[in-house]
Amino acid sequence: MKILLTGCNGQVGWELGRALLPLGEVIITNRSQVDLSDLDGLRRTVQKYSADVIVNAAAYTAVDKAETEKDLAFLINAEAPGVLAEEAKRTGALLIHYSTDYVFDGTKISAYAEDDVPNPANIYGQSKLAGEKAIQVTGADYLILRTSWVYAARGHNFLKSILRLAAEREELNIVADQIGSPTWARLIAETTAHILRQSLLERYKGDFNSDLYNVTSAGETSWHGFARMIVDYARQQGSQALKNRIINPIPTKDYPLPAKRPVNSRLSVGRLEQHFGLKMPAWDQALKLCMEDIAATVHRQ
Ligand SMILES: NC(=O)c1ccc[n+]([C@@H]2O[C@H](COP(=O)([O-])OP(=O)(O)OC[C@H]3O[C@@H](n4cnc5c(N)ncnc54)[C@H](OP(=O)(O)O)[C@@H]3O)[C@@H](O)[C@H]2O)c1
Repeated sequence: MKILLTGCNGQVGWELGRALLPLGEVIITNRSQVDLSDLDGLRRTVQKYSADVIVNAAAYTAVDKAETEKDLAFLINAEAPGVLAEEAKRTGALLIHYSTDYVFDGTKISAYAEDDVPNPANIYGQSKLAGEKAIQVTGADYLILRTSWVYAARGHNFLKSILRLAAEREELNIVADQIGSPTWARLIAETTAHILRQSLLERYKGDFNSDLYNVTSAGETSWHGFARMIVDYARQQGSQALKNRIINPIPTKDYPLPAKRPVNSRLSVGRLEQHFGLKMPAWDQALKLCMEDIAATVHRQ
């Protein structure tokens, strides 16, 4: 079985490059090999590889920049996934694609289920929602996995920003009125591998249904709670580099950004757990494991 992976240098893409390996021949591609902003080239490359499964981890993820780069965000996040799905439909491949909590406006009180009505509050969210729809209309076999607040040892993310800032500053001000579930890229990748394996069996038996699943850690916190846990774990792990003493909770209005963020980013994982027989770990348990990984790498240097 041949799996084509795009975006291999991203947080999720890098982890997928490892997690998918036992499932078949994985063609691991970066932006220079498969560029989602070149739709004709994308179509040609996908045809050339003729994979059984396409896993699209590439995306335009600059949430604030998207406010002024709408066309590029839509090209990469909406049109390109549509092309991937058209090619998957043509060849009978299965397409796995990632989406986001930002398809919702965050006004719901409880966690969002897959069937809740999306209403993105920013351009990035609009482009990702358009990508979901572009895939769904093709009639290809697909799995769309919505995740949230992704972090990893590699790449740019909140965890790494907090570790850097906590080493530089005694006092930090972090937003406390946005709630979500921080999710380790490795958890997303390993969950994808489980999902893919079962889905391939379902396809073989003729009882596969394309669907959308929320894939996040269990539990919830605010950015402030996430930051506190990061600094607590770093301290427990004996980090010598911590200047930070205080993390103040602040409201979103005191940290203005170009793109509006949902206040409630929680996604319920019930459908995922039930269909695939999985149990998603608590966000702080996964965070601890990721930070142990980072600490081990630092200590080895
Ligand atoms: N990050 C989050 O908090 C978050 C939250 C919810 C959902 N998601 C979704 O999860 C998925 C994975 O996100 P991530 O956090 O792993 O993103 P990431 O770390 O920003 O990685 C995105 C990857 O896409 C690649 N890319 C960008 N433009 C491209 C293009 N035109 N052609 C080919 N590749 C291109 C980037 O390449 P370079 O390395 O060359 O720049 C990068 O490797 C995405 O679908 C994202 O929308 C992310």
